[in-house]
Amino acid sequence: MTPNSKATLNFADGTPSIEFPIYKGSVGPDVIDIRKLYGGTGKFTFDPGFMSTAACESKITYIDGDKGELLYRGYPIEQLAVNCDYLETCYLLLNGELPDATQKKDFEHRVTNHTMVHEQMTRFFQGFRRDAHPMAVLVGCVGALSAFYHDSLDIQNPEHRRISAIRLIAKMPTLVAMAYKYSVGQPFMYPKNDLSYSANFMRMMFGTPCAEYVPNPVLVRALDRILILHADHEQNASTSTVRLAGSSGANPFACIAAGIATLWGPAHGGANEACLVMLGDIQKQGGLPKIGEFIAQVKDKNSNVKLMGFGHRVYKNYDPRAKLMRETCYEVLNELGLQDDPMFKLAMALEKIALEDEYFVSRKLYPNVDFYSGIVQKALGIPTDLFTCIFALARTVGWIAQWTEMIAEPDQKIGRPRQLFTGAPRRDVTPIGQR
Ligand code: SDX
Repeated sequence: MTPNSKATLNFADGTPSIEFPIYKGSVGPDVIDIRKLYGGTGKFTFDPGFMSTAACESKITYIDGDKGELLYRGYPIEQLAVNCDYLETCYLLLNGELPDATQKKDFEHRVTNHTMVHEQMTRFFQGFRRDAHPMAVLVGCVGALSAFYHDSLDIQNPEHRRISAIRLIAKMPTLVAMAYKYSVGQPFMYPKNDLSYSANFMRMMFGTPCAEYVPNPVLVRALDRILILHADHEQNASTSTVRLAGSSGANPFACIAAGIATLWGPAHGGANEACLVMLGDIQKQGGLPKIGEFIAQVKDKNSNVKLMGFGHRVYKNYDPRAKLMRETCYEVLNELGLQDDPMFKLAMALEKIALEDEYFVSRKLYPNVDFYSGIVQKALGIPTDLFTCIFALARTVGWIAQWTEMIAEPDQKIGRPRQLFTGAPRRDVTPIGQR
């Protein structure tokens, strides 16, 4: 990074002014390098939600929130979703370039041959209640994976990083499908090497040993596109967690488990599940005629009700993934003869009303990736509480690509933010008899 201009900070309290270099990215906002602020002034910046903070330099994903643009390694998500499949997108995110036919075939072969998990992993599931939330199971099992790969935990070794990335991308579908099978009391299905990544997942989810399961190519393609749309998204909460965990030198399986835990929150990856629950509640209260009442609740600050699947920290325009998700939703419902799916109709009506309502327009609240993803996943037969596991499955490549980029940083340091302390200053303990 070479400074292309500078910023001067002047203080009214007599602190000497200080200059900072400003760096320009290839696209997007410039950054002010404040790393010497504390040493030069004894002061910190204060930015609790990281609203104005760039925590790292990255070459992986770029979002233009005002334009509603999302690029993976420079390629628009709209083009990748139509012209590539998920493993091709994984290769791009990990390596920076799209694979040629040979590279793609080799990458698919490597991933396919790591899709099984250690047979002892099956015992982890026995410890969970059948009705455990699958995200709880996934956090536990992914964290436990590190116990099986002592041969590749040296994160400074590029080959160890590469094999860990392959293992995580390959095994997430197997673990997610196992979590689902365990919840419904069906036997685990082993992966089949002659199926594509997404077809393999569909078979492990919906196949049984009793009959041959032939995945529907339209539904497989829809799932594959859902995975592409969720693959990476710059420095979102779960990715920032993975980077922070990785900065301590923790192994990649532990870091991804931390990312899964963060994604679970309803403000983040849990929003697709929360959105479907929200649509179901409106449906129960009477459906379309009740939308006005619901919107009024959302606008009432005391209700604490949010329009799940709407709004975004970065997108102040339509999330490009939401548009693609709505198209995919339409394709799947058509393929399944569910064009009149009441939930889809309710969602489209809700979206239309919200996009015309001053409350949402003034706050630049648009549908995000989670608004339609629940409806299409439900149509695919995926249970609501598994939606965020699918999100985690898809995002694993983004997390591991960002983790790898951070580890490879020459001046990588452990992340250790400071604070504005407003608690009790120093005081002495009073003996209990005098308290
Ligand atoms: C994801 O970061 C990423 O990139 C995440 C993600 C990814 O791919 O990794 O894109 C995935 O997490 C998508 C977001 C999914 N979450 C939801 O759909 C949950 C509902 N959305 C909100 O919780 C909220 O919009 C956030 C958390 C997504 C963003 O919150 P911000 O940026 O902190 O914005 P804010 O809460 O300050 O909202 C600004 C205003 C507030 O009103 P005022 O105080 O100005 O009056 O908008 C209101 C908020 O109350 N608002 C909403 C709303 N979202 C924001 N009001 C009603 N419904 C909503 N959904």
